[in-house]
Amino acid sequence: MGLTLRMWVASLLLLTHLLHGALCWGDDGHYAVCKIAQGYFEEETVVAVKKLLPAYADGELAAVCSWPDEIKRLPQWKWTAALHFADTPDDKCNYDYSRDCPNDWCVTGAIFNYTNQLMSASKDSQSIVHYNLTEALMFLSHYMGDIHQPLHEGFLGDLGGNKVKVNWYNQETNLHRVWDDMIIESALEKYYNSSLSVMIHALQDKLKYGWSNDVWSWGSCQLNQTACPNPYASESIDLACKYAYTNATAGTTLGGILTL
Ligand SMILES: *[C@@H]1O[C@H](CO)[C@@H](O)[C@H](O)[C@H]1NC(C)=O
Ligand SMILES: *[C@@H]1O[C@H](CO)[C@@H](O)[C@H](O)[C@H]1NC(C)=O
Ligand SMILES: *[C@@H]1O[C@H](CO)[C@@H](O)[C@H](O)[C@H]1NC(C)=O
Ligand SMILES: *[C@@H]1O[C@H](CO)[C@@H](O)[C@H](O)[C@H]1NC(C)=O
Ligand SMILES: *[C@@H]1O[C@H](CO)[C@@H](O)[C@H](O)[C@H]1NC(C)=O
Repeated sequence: MGLTLRMWVASLLLLTHLLHGALCWGDDGHYAVCKIAQGYFEEETVVAVKKLLPAYADGELAAVCSWPDEIKRLPQWKWTAALHFADTPDDKCNYDYSRDCPNDWCVTGAIFNYTNQLMSASKDSQSIVHYNLTEALMFLSHYMGDIHQPLHEGFLGDLGGNKVKVNWYNQETNLHRVWDDMIIESALEKYYNSSLSVMIHALQDKLKYGWSNDVWSWGSCQLNQTACPNPYASESIDLACKYAYTNATAGTTLGGILTL
């Protein structure tokens, strides 16, 4: 799954490469990530995921991938809000699990937690399942998207860009939202006939025929924090520093030369 997600970010970077200049990534981003990921499921995974999905999902993982954002402000789910990101101390462009994920309470800790729940349930059917694995699946799928949005590993002081007021073209917003939603929205309009499925197909083609293909390596993510998700967080803060925060101080207008 990792590469798909990384490639997704890479495609965003393509879009923002030439740019002059809270706390979630938008519904379209999560939908696309999960839609692409489920295309890589093995047969067993298809069956297991179908069993766990709520009926309203109609067999589509992508249909539930924004659920953790929908619930995170409800009183009984407030505790999950901090699991969407892993911010670093201001101007620190590296990620350090013990520093940035105290008590496993951040996106990497949550990915590890929910992977663990799903893996142990599938390995040992005799064990008493303590956790709601439908929730585990929905959280895992969502947080795997979040961790690949560079500003989900932004700086603590500006809440991952949420406090950096900028304009996207002539719309007032903040830097975090630019990366969650607005780059995608603008790209949809400009390059994909305003159609999410056209964009998803283009990304799927890139994965098949374009970008170097290391799909095989995704399996090493399982229960291995060294393979995943820590390296994803490291990549994101690196990209946040190199691209998202660069030339994007408060009051900047971004989006002037959105180019593919
Ligand atoms: C792991 O998941 C369970 C079930 O949702 C939750 O109660 C617990 O707080 C989670 N722990 C972490 C570190 O995310
Ligand atoms: C599991 O979680 C989902 C989503 O919160 C909920 O709709 C469902 O009722 C839960 N299942 C059980 C057995 O508690
Ligand atoms: C673009 O979208 C419109 C409206 O949905 C559709 O009629 C048209 O055929 C699409 N064009 C291409 C090139 O896909
Ligand atoms: C975890 O992944 C790392 C990096 O891919 C690898 O070197 C290590 O052997 C893996 N550990 C286990 C226990 O599989
Ligand atoms: C930042 O601005 C400088 C000067 O206009 C430009 O050369 C550079 O490419 C920009 N960097 C990014 C990441 O947008």
